[in-house]
Amino acid sequence: MNGYGGGRWGVGPRRPQDFKTALRKSLKWARPLLPILIFGLACTLAGVFLGQQPPRIIQYTIDQVIDGSRYYLLARVILLYAGVVVLGQVIGAASGYWMSVAGQRLLHSLRMALYDQFQVLHLGYYDDKRIGDLTSRVTGDVNQLEGLIVNTSNSLVRQVFGVGFALYYMMNYSWQLALLVLVPIPILGVSLYIFTRRVRVVYRSIRESTGALNAKLMENLSGMQVIRAFNREAQERDAVESTSRFLFNQNIRASKMTSMFYPAIHTLTTMGTIAVLGVGAFLISKGIFTVGKLVAFLVYVGNFYNPVGDFIRTFDSIQRALASGERIFEVLDTVPEIQDPLEPVPLETIRGEVEFRHVFFKYATGEEVLRDVNVHAMPGQRVALVGRSGAGKSSFVSLIPRFYDVTEGSVLIDGVDVRRYRQSDLRRHIAIVLQETFLFSGTVRENLLFGRPDASDEEIIAAAKAANAHEFIIRLENGYDTQVGERGVKLSGGQKQRLAIARAMLANPRILILDEATSSVDTESEVLIHQALDRLMVGRTTFIIAHRLSTVRSADTILVLEGGCIVERGDHSELVGADGVYAQMYRQQFWFDEDESTLD
Ligand SMILES: Nc1ncnc2c1ncn2[C@@H]1O[C@H](COP(=O)(O)OP(=O)(O)OP(=O)(O)O)[C@@H](O)[C@H]1O
Ligand SMILES: [Mg+2]
Repeated sequence: MNGYGGGRWGVGPRRPQDFKTALRKSLKWARPLLPILIFGLACTLAGVFLGQQPPRIIQYTIDQVIDGSRYYLLARVILLYAGVVVLGQVIGAASGYWMSVAGQRLLHSLRMALYDQFQVLHLGYYDDKRIGDLTSRVTGDVNQLEGLIVNTSNSLVRQVFGVGFALYYMMNYSWQLALLVLVPIPILGVSLYIFTRRVRVVYRSIRESTGALNAKLMENLSGMQVIRAFNREAQERDAVESTSRFLFNQNIRASKMTSMFYPAIHTLTTMGTIAVLGVGAFLISKGIFTVGKLVAFLVYVGNFYNPVGDFIRTFDSIQRALASGERIFEVLDTVPEIQDPLEPVPLETIRGEVEFRHVFFKYATGEEVLRDVNVHAMPGQRVALVGRSGAGKSSFVSLIPRFYDVTEGSVLIDGVDVRRYRQSDLRRHIAIVLQETFLFSGTVRENLLFGRPDASDEEIIAAAKAANAHEFIIRLENGYDTQVGERGVKLSGGQKQRLAIARAMLANPRILILDEATSSVDTESEVLIHQALDRLMVGRTTFIIAHRLSTVRSADTILVLEGGCIVERGDHSELVGADGVYAQMYRQQFWFDEDESTLD
C-alpha cells in the first residue's frame, strides 16, 4: 500500500504535531472567510439561544399558568413559544445558507490553489507521483477540509454554547442536580482522548488508500488496451480488488471504533439522566422542587448531553479533516525546484543561439545522465542527436526549455543562462514535438490553437498544409471542427504527429525540439512527416532526435551520445569518414533497411 506520494513524511504513523500544523494551516485558509463565518456563527449562536427557551416556557406554563390557575396568560405564552420557534428556524436557514456559501468559496479556492501549484511545480515532482492520487487530493481531500472549517466550526459553536446555556439553566433550577449531571464528564473526556488518538491513524490511512485506489483505477482505465492485449484482466482485477479491500477494511475498522464508542457514551449519559429523574422525584416529594422544574430540567439534561455526544462526532470529523489537510498541505507546501529569477532578463526577441557549457545533469533519483556536455548551436542550425536508447538524448533536450535544471554547468540561450529568463518568456520561443503526441479533448482546431490562440483561420490552414495534415483533416467528418476525443484516440499515430507538427508550426518558435518524431509510422506517413518537418525546421535552431539515421543526414552537426557523453561530433560525411560509432550505426541501419526492402 506504500509508495504513492508518501512525501517527506514518509509512510507509517506520524507524530501528532503534524495534525497541529495542519490545523494551524487550515485556520489560515479560513481567514478570508472570516466575515461570513462570523455572521453565520452569530446566527447559529442566536439559534442556539432561542432553542434553549422552550423548556423554560414549558416550566412557566406548568408551574405558573396551570398550577397557578393563571389561564389568561396562556395565549401570550403560546404566541411566545411559536414566535421563538419560527424565529429560530428563520435564523437557522440564514446561517445554513451563508455557511454553505463560505464553504463553497473555500472549496473553490483550495481546488484552485492546488491546481495553480500543480502548474508551477517542477516536472521532476511528477516523476514519483501517481496522477490519480494527486487528483483525489483535489476532489476528495479538499471536501474533507472544507467540512472542517465550515461545518465543524458551526457545530462547535452550537455544541459549546448549547452545553453552556443548558448548564446555566440547570444551575439556575438546582445546582445539586446539575453537579449530578456533570459526573460522567471526566470519564467521557478520557475516553474521547483515547478514541481520537486511535481513530486518526485509521482516517489517515483511509485518505491514503482512497488516493491509491484512484491512482490504480486511472492507470488501468488508460491502459485498458494493454491489459486486454496481455490477458492481464485477472491479475489487474486482483490488484484493484486488494486496493479496494484495503480501503474497505480501513473503513470497517473506523466504523467498528465509532459504532462501539457512541453507544458507550450514550449509555453513560443516560445513566446521568436516570439519576436526575430519581433524585428529582425525591426532591419533589420533599417539597423542594416542582414538577414543572423537573420536566424543564430533564429537557436541559438532554440539551446538555446531546451536544456532548455531537461534540465527540465533531471531534471525529476534525480527525478526518486533518488527515486530508495533511495531504493537501503536503502539495501546497512543496517548494517548486524550478522558479523564475527575481530579476529576469527580458527576452522579447530571440536569435536562437543555444549553448551547453560543461553541462552535468542527473535526475533527483539515479546517477549522472549527462557528463560534461559542450555544444554550441548558432541560430538556424540543425543539431541532430543520435545514440543508444537511454544515452540521455531526451534528457539533453529537456534542459533547453528548463523542464529540468542542470546539476552543474549551464545552458545558455543567446549567451544568457536559461535560469536568468522568466520560464514563460523562454518557452514562448521554443516548440516541442514528441513521439508520444498529446492532444486534448476538443476539436482539431482547438488543439492546433494551443500554442497560439489568436491565430487566424488562414494561418491555421497554412500550418496544417505545411504539416501535410490539411488533406486528412478536411476528410474528417467535421473537418477542423472534428472532436478528437481524449488523448486524440480517433486519429492514427501518424496523423496525430502531423497535427503536433502543425501545432508547433503555428506557434512559430525560434527554437525547435523534435524527439523521435518519425519512428513508429509507416513509410508513406514517414515521407509526409519528413516533408512537414523539413518545412518546420526552416530558419529555426533545431535539435532533432531520431533513431532512423536517414532523418539526421541533413543536420549541420550530428552529436553521438553514449552514456551521457558526446563521443563523436561532425556532419554526416565527416562522421562516416571517421569510421567510428556513427559509421557503424549507419552501416547497421543501412543493411537493416536493405533487408527490409528486399523483403517487400
Ligand atoms: N524522469 C526521470 N527520472 C529519473 N531518471 C530518468 C528520467 N528520465 C530518464 N531517466 C534516466 O535517464 C537516462 C537517460 O534517459 P533519456 O530518456 O534521456 O534517454 P534517451 O537517450 O532519450 O533514450 P531513448 O532513445 O530510449 O528515448 C536513462 O538511464 C533513464 O533511465
Ligand atoms: Mg528519449
